[in-house]
Amino acid sequence: MRVLGIAGSPRRGGNTDLLLGEVMRGAASRGAEVKTIVLNDLNIAPCQHCDGCLKTGRCKVEDDMQMVYRELKQADRVVLASPLYFMGVTAQMKAMIDRCQALWVRKYLLKLAPLGSKPGQKKGIFISVSGTKLANPFEPAVATIKSLFRVLDIIYGGELVFAGVNEKGAIAEYPDALRQGFLAGQKLVEE
Ligand SMILES: Cc1cc2nc3c(=O)[nH]c(=O)nc-3n(C[C@H](O)[C@H](O)[C@H](O)COP(=O)(O)O)c2cc1C
Repeated sequence: MRVLGIAGSPRRGGNTDLLLGEVMRGAASRGAEVKTIVLNDLNIAPCQHCDGCLKTGRCKVEDDMQMVYRELKQADRVVLASPLYFMGVTAQMKAMIDRCQALWVRKYLLKLAPLGSKPGQKKGIFISVSGTKLANPFEPAVATIKSLFRVLDIIYGGELVFAGVNEKGAIAEYPDALRQGFLAGQKLVEE
């Protein structure tokens, strides 16, 4: 069982980073092979809508996204972590998501399995925090992640989200949040 964590925040040691670390620790405690990619350390250009993928389902842009495609293919479980930025995911995460348009082409135009897996084989969850305590501020970001997972044939296994967490590392004081992350990682591998 391979679990791929994708960190969307530029803040190392920030709230989603700490939560993601616990999810991955939980998954590893159940015997999973875990790997975390930090998008902010990578060079991933935004989609140029060049239609270069239309015939092949392969993105022509040769940057670090090519590695992310490979990792997504190999993963059995995917954990996407991003704080809310203007109600959505971070630009780093959105650039990665938009580059999955090549996989949309594979699925809907070329009628191929987007990640080479059978529907139902892969599963993923979403982790997020927001600075403000609005009622369900995560809805737009969750819609984006669900849309990605639908295209990639990844079952949406739910979200682990915490509102009102703003200062770097404040999630550690949020009652039980890190523990919930650890348990979510274990559950993700067991299902
Ligand atoms: C550019 C930017 C946009 C943000 N937009 C929102 C927002 O729309 N809603 C919100 O509740 N918090 C917003 N925040 C606050 C972050 O979600 C919050 O600080 C969070 O804890 C950061 O998580 P991290 O430590 O994982 O980076 C924003 C922060 C930044 C820097």
